[in-house]
This record gives sequence, structure tokens and C-alpha cells, in this order.
Amino acid sequence: MTKVITYGTFDLFHEGHYKLLQRAKALGDYLIVAVTSDYFDKCRGKFNVHDSLMARVKNVEKTGFADEIIIEEYFGQKIDDIKKYGVDIFTVGSDWVGHFDYLSEYCKVVYLDRTQGISSTQIRNSHNIKLGIIGNEDILKRFLDEFNYVSGMEIAGIYCNNKAKPKSELKQFIDVVSLFEEVDAVYINLPLKERFDFMKKALLAGKHVLTEFPFCNNIEQAKELLDIASSKKLVLMEGLKTAYCPAFGKLISLAKSGVIGNILNVEARFTQILGEHLQEQVRIAGGSIESLAAYPLLVIFKLLGTKYKDIKFASHYENGVDVFSKIDFIFDGAIANATVAINAKAEGNLVITGTKGYIYVPAPWWKTDYFEVRYEDINKNTKYFYKFEGEGLRYELVEFVRSIQDGRLDNIILTRDEIFSECMVISRYNEQSGVQAF
Ligand code: CTP
Repeated sequence: MTKVITYGTFDLFHEGHYKLLQRAKALGDYLIVAVTSDYFDKCRGKFNVHDSLMARVKNVEKTGFADEIIIEEYFGQKIDDIKKYGVDIFTVGSDWVGHFDYLSEYCKVVYLDRTQGISSTQIRNSHNIKLGIIGNEDILKRFLDEFNYVSGMEIAGIYCNNKAKPKSELKQFIDVVSLFEEVDAVYINLPLKERFDFMKKALLAGKHVLTEFPFCNNIEQAKELLDIASSKKLVLMEGLKTAYCPAFGKLISLAKSGVIGNILNVEARFTQILGEHLQEQVRIAGGSIESLAAYPLLVIFKLLGTKYKDIKFASHYENGVDVFSKIDFIFDGAIANATVAINAKAEGNLVITGTKGYIYVPAPWWKTDYFEVRYEDINKNTKYFYKFEGEGLRYELVEFVRSIQDGRLDNIILTRDEIFSECMVISRYNEQSGVQAF
């Protein structure tokens, strides 16, 4: 019996996939189809697969060509599979010519002609969401670089209300209304103080909104924005990149699964010395609380919820700007603290204390790619590694596209309750409620 194996994502199953499987089956007597897992796809840079793994497996199954379907989960699995299943022929489409020649040491390698004129990427791109950009702060360059990794969305152009013209090739709109006419969604990267007006205008014009964090620093305004978004069934998303990065999601799930027992304390630090960039940072994003507290608040709210019993702040000010701050929370059965700085430096780690052990995430924990679960008995310690791609913005962009496509208004990754609670903390701080200066 000749055993054949082939690999693919098989997203938005199309004729090219069908023909590939048909010919793969014809190469032998028994066909194994390996469908890539969502996580593995992300690891190899495929971020916007539309169909779930189960849907993709079902579509392969429906063709009737596969005798066995397996899941591809890691780099190097192909050699393991060939040995494990006693494979005689490995085959994939001609877009991979040469790439898998190294497998010929283990079995025959056949590249089948790819069906012309169709691909999952092409189908995904045929329903592109049109995105307009408002604002031209420095993060725009990184945003545009990361945008290249995301499909399902295209940029219609940019409107800059005050700053000099962007250096990019983007089409420039002279007023925001004409930008709204051409787009389905907007990315607003204006300084915090200028965001509200544009977010409100965009939502009232029926556009989905992605903005930088914190999305708002005033509770009344935050309520108004969230209400408009809900009533108009629009996505209003805060682009706090850590929330969307895969390792951070795994870390939260693991901590909540009980591996360290009950969580008693969360300590998160994010500190920077901005030096000569300090004034610019303050102009765009505010002091240490406004510009950085969103990161520690994210992990605290994710793990302990948003219903804290008490909150206190301590800040050190320079020229009226809080450059170093601490926030202490008391929850029912747990405490938490956040340290943020824009002109002081401390270890930027995250420690989650539990009754059975603790989780340690080294600096920079907000770009999580590695963490450890540690116990009294060090033999039980476990290390976890995950990939963090580029600047991390691609993860939030993919989520933005998905949320719009699937009509998911309250994003579970960063909920409306969490962003509203983050705004409440900042707003409370700005009202100087419970703040000690030192
Ligand atoms: N394939 C093919 N002809 C096409 C598209 C895909 O023969 N027009 C083959 C690929 O070469 C591969 C298998 O189908 O062996 C699964 O490919 P996959 O990457 O899942 O599909 P694509 O449409 O190429 O997906 P994407 O655009 O996301 O890369």
C-alpha cells in the first residue's frame, strides 16, 4: 500500500484545494491530510485564517479523498509524521517547489501543479474592509509595517488634522467627512486629548473604530462612546497590543485554570526613562498613569476582575507631570499593584502569586513570549515559550478585522467592561481621588 501525506491550512475551502487533494489521493492508496492548527499558523506568520480548525477539517473530510486527517501543530512535525505513519510520498502544491526537498531523505517528494487563479488569500481579500486613518503620530509607521501581515482589510487613505503630512504614499483626505464616505472603519491615532471628538464623529457616521490606549480618560465620554457603538452595532476596539498577543492569552488562561491555586497578588511593572522624548510623550499620551497604566490594569482586571474594593495611588511629579506612579488595589481575597514610570526605571516584570505557586513573566512582560510557573518544589517548575511576532500590532489588527466580519461587538479579548474600568481608574486619578504625591 502506498501512503501519501499532504499539508495545508485549507481555509475558505476552494477548487484549488479540492483538485490538490484529488491528485494527492491518486498518487497512492491511502491519503493522510494534515490540517494546520490555528496556533501553528500564527507561528508561521499566517494570522488571518478565517475558518476554525474544525470547519477546515470538516471541509477536507467532505471531499471524501482523505483516509485520515491529522493536525499539524509544530515546526519539524513533517519528519515525525512521515516516520510515524510510514509515509511513501509527501506532496504539496507547486508554490512550495524546492522548499520540502529535505524530506526526500525520508520519502518521495512530489510537487503538484497549483490550480491557477484562486487562493484563500484572494478570497479573503475580495471582501476587504476599507480602513481610513485619522492622525499621524509616530506609531503610524509601525502600524503600516504591521498592516502588511494582515489580510481582509485595505487602507483607503489618511486624514491628518494638524500634524505635517505623513511621508507615506497614502491618499490624503482634506476633511474627515470625505474620508468617512469611503471607509467602513477607522484607526484613530491622535493624541489622547484629541481622540474623543473623532471617535464620536466616526461612530455617529457608522464606522467601526480602532484606537490607541487608553481609548478615553473621562468616564462620561467613555460611556457616551460605548453607548453609541452598542446602539449602532459597531466595533469600538482599544489597540492595547498585549491583550491580543497569543502568549498573553495563554498566560491568563493558565493562571485562571488553578495551576498556582487561588490568586492572591498580581504585581506588574512597566517603566521607561524617556529622557529627551519625555515632553513629546506627555503631549501625545499624558503622564505615567495615562500613558502606561493600561498595561498593568489589563493583567489585573483579567485575573481579578474589575470589581475592586479599594484603590490608592502614589505619584512622583516633575514639572506637574506624574513621571512615576504606583496603584494599589484591594479585591475580595486578593491584592494587586501596578508600577508605571516615564522617567524612572525598575525591573519590568510580572509576578502572579497563588496559594500553590507563582507565575513569573520576565521583562518586558507586555511583549510576552516566555514565562515560568514556579513551585516550592522546583522540580515541578515549568517554562512556557511562545512566539511574539514583530511589533505585535498585527494581532490586534487581525482581531479588529475578525470582530467586524463576525459582528462580535464586545470583544472577549479586551471587553467593554475592561476598557471602561481602565478609563474609570484614569479618570479617578485625574480627579486626584486617593492620590498621594511624594
Ligand atoms: N493549492 C493548490 N492550488 C491553489 C491553492 C492551493 O494546489 N490554487 C494547494 C497548496 O499548494 C497546498 C494546499 O492546496 O498544497 C493547501 O494550500 P493552502 O495554503 O491551504 O491554500 P492557499 O489557497 O494557497 O492559501 P493561502 O492563500 O492562505 O496561502
